[in-house]
Amino acid sequence: MPIFASVNCKWGGASPMLVLGLETSCDETAAALVDAQGRVLSDVVQSQVALHAPYGGVIPELASRDHLTNLPHVVSLALEQAGATLASVDAVAVTCRPGLVGALLVGVQFAKGLAWAAGKPLVGVDHLVGHLFACQLRRGADAPTLPALPFVALLVSGGHTAIYRVEGVTPEAVCELGATRDDAAGEAFDKVAKLLGLGYPGGPAIDRLAREAVPEPGLFTPPMASTKTLDLSFSGLKTQVAAHVAKHGVPEGLRLAVVCASFQAAVTTVLTNKLMAAAKREGVRDVVLGGGVAANRELRARVSEASKLLGLRVHLPDLASSTDNAAMIAYAGALAHRAGVSHGWDLLATSATSLPRATRKGRGTR
Ligand code: KG4
Ligand code: ZN
Repeated sequence: MPIFASVNCKWGGASPMLVLGLETSCDETAAALVDAQGRVLSDVVQSQVALHAPYGGVIPELASRDHLTNLPHVVSLALEQAGATLASVDAVAVTCRPGLVGALLVGVQFAKGLAWAAGKPLVGVDHLVGHLFACQLRRGADAPTLPALPFVALLVSGGHTAIYRVEGVTPEAVCELGATRDDAAGEAFDKVAKLLGLGYPGGPAIDRLAREAVPEPGLFTPPMASTKTLDLSFSGLKTQVAAHVAKHGVPEGLRLAVVCASFQAAVTTVLTNKLMAAAKREGVRDVVLGGGVAANRELRARVSEASKLLGLRVHLPDLASSTDNAAMIAYAGALAHRAGVSHGWDLLATSATSLPRATRKGRGTR
């Protein structure tokens, strides 16, 4: 039986559970306290964007060192804002995969130290599972409607882009239906923004500029648009933008906005169409978005509109739950812990996800 099904409806009646979550997989140092209903009691995110911006991308060694500097006060602040102490938490959850190994290692070792010193269980969490359940976090007064299992989820972040059928919170209950064969969608946003001189991270900048113009039909071709396969590809689209810039120079003013809108339309059209095709194929009623690119205004609008047309229920994470945060790690840790998962002091930081992969990277016939 899917583990999450029972958790979904039983949280309220069970004994309260408070989980401290830590997240250091990339360039955000984050800590959060989340309770048994997915209520976010505190959520502290210290971004390293300014540190990495001069290099146009994340420098792994700098990220690790900065996590080490940031973690003590980020964790203290999260506990203080929640009115909690280490003694009052029921478990310490930490992202242990996938990500930059050095960065993950800092978080994992820190979490081990806290859990050991306070005598609390330690729960290692796959960052991608965190994103898949982030739409269930409760940040305001109203509780979000929980997706029914199984659901189909589109996970779109800076490092990963895939469509999953989700039957529960454990890696074995998550099945990859299709994924990018090359760049992740967020990576494409970041690389295109760099080509256009918009700095790092590029997603929010393109999202903002795209609002100022309408896409030019035919300027860029959506990649792998046929929904016969649920595989995706974004490196060719980035090359289309690079070729455009090589031919016409870096656009400015309204033209820059048109290029951004056209690129964003190509990405969001293909993502929406494949997500809808996956939902139809799997016969589910609920579709979920997760990951940093789920903060994209146009993707949210397109997926909401298409879901409505097909009679699907759509579950969008709050903006704060889309990009990297520790609340989603605390929540996924709470679900796993409730299902009996805990890890020993030998928990490892690993660069690869625990979710089974089905999509082969690279070109060529399948
Ligand atoms: O999930 P996330 O915070 O980190 C990873 O796990 O990778 O995703 C970061 C990615 C970056 O590539 C960033 O450019 C993209 O999410 N992103 C966006 C938006 N906000 C963040 N992409 C498009 N539109 C946005 N509004
Ligand atoms: Zn992420």
